[in-house]
Amino acid sequence: MSELRKVQFKVFRFNPSIDTSPKWKIYEVEVDRGSTVLDALLKIKEEQDPSLAVRYSCRQAICGSCGMMINGKQRLACFTRVLELNTRVVVVEPLNNYPIVRDLITDFSDLFNKEKMVKPYIIRDDTLEMLNPTGMYLQKPEELLEYLQFADCIECGLCSSACPTYSTDSLFLTPMILNKAFRFSADSRDMGLHHRLPIIDSEHGCWRCHFAVACSSVCPKGIDPAKSIQLLKRMIASASIFKLVKKKETQLVSRHHAVESVV
Ligand code: SF4
Ligand code: SF4
Ligand code: FES
Repeated sequence: MSELRKVQFKVFRFNPSIDTSPKWKIYEVEVDRGSTVLDALLKIKEEQDPSLAVRYSCRQAICGSCGMMINGKQRLACFTRVLELNTRVVVVEPLNNYPIVRDLITDFSDLFNKEKMVKPYIIRDDTLEMLNPTGMYLQKPEELLEYLQFADCIECGLCSSACPTYSTDSLFLTPMILNKAFRFSADSRDMGLHHRLPIIDSEHGCWRCHFAVACSSVCPKGIDPAKSIQLLKRMIASASIFKLVKKKETQLVSRHHAVESVV
C-alpha cells in the first residue's frame, strides 16, 4: 500500500458575482503516490469546502477541461501528480490570460469564437461532390504525417494561457487557434487556406507570434504549436500555395477504386 503524505494546497478563490477581490485559502490534504492535483481538489470539495469551483470531466487528459496554474505553470490538474511536484505547498490558480468564471474556472469563449473564425474543418471547392458524394478522398501515409502531430489537440487552452503575445494583444488568434488553422490547411483533402487567409494572415494572425515557444513548453499532448505556427507562416508565404491547391484537386477516386487501393 502506498504511503500517505499531508500536503498543503494554497487555492485561489474568487466569485466575481459577489467578491470585490480574490483571496487565498489554505487546505491540508492527505495524498498518496498516485494522487493527482485534481484528486486533491475534489477531496477538498468533498471533505472540507463544497463551494470550491473546479471544472473537469474525463480525468485522463482527454477532455481538456481541468487546465489551471499549478505552482506557477499551466498544467492539467488530472495529469499532474501532487508528489511529483515535490513542494511542501502546492499553489493552485486559474489559468492566465482568460476571464475568471469562478475560483479555478476560466472562460474560453474568446478561444472558441476565434476557432469558428478559422473554419476548423475540411473545406472543398467541389461543393456538388460534397452534397452528392460519388467517391472518397484518399490520403497517403506521408500526407497524413503532414498534420498528424498537430491533430491531437484537446483544446485545453494551456498554450494560449502561456502565450506572452496573447497577454498583451487580446485580439491575437493564439497558438491553440493557429495550430488548428494549420492542422486543416495542411490536410491534403482541404482546399480552404484561401478562406482562412483573411484572418490568419491579418494583423492579429500568425505574424504576431515571435516564436517564444512558451506555448509548446506547456502542451500536455506534445503538439508543439510554436512549430505549426512557423509552418503556417511558411505556407502563407510560399509561392507554391496555388500549386498545392491544384494538386489537391486530383484526389477524388470512386468508392470501388478506394476500397481496392486500401486492400
Ligand atoms: S511561440 Fe508564438 S504563439 Fe507560442 S507562446 Fe510564443 S508568441 Fe505565443
Ligand atoms: S495545442 Fe496543446 S496546449 Fe494548446 S490547446 Fe492543444 S493540447 Fe492544449
Ligand atoms: S479532466 Fe479531462 S483533461 Fe483533465
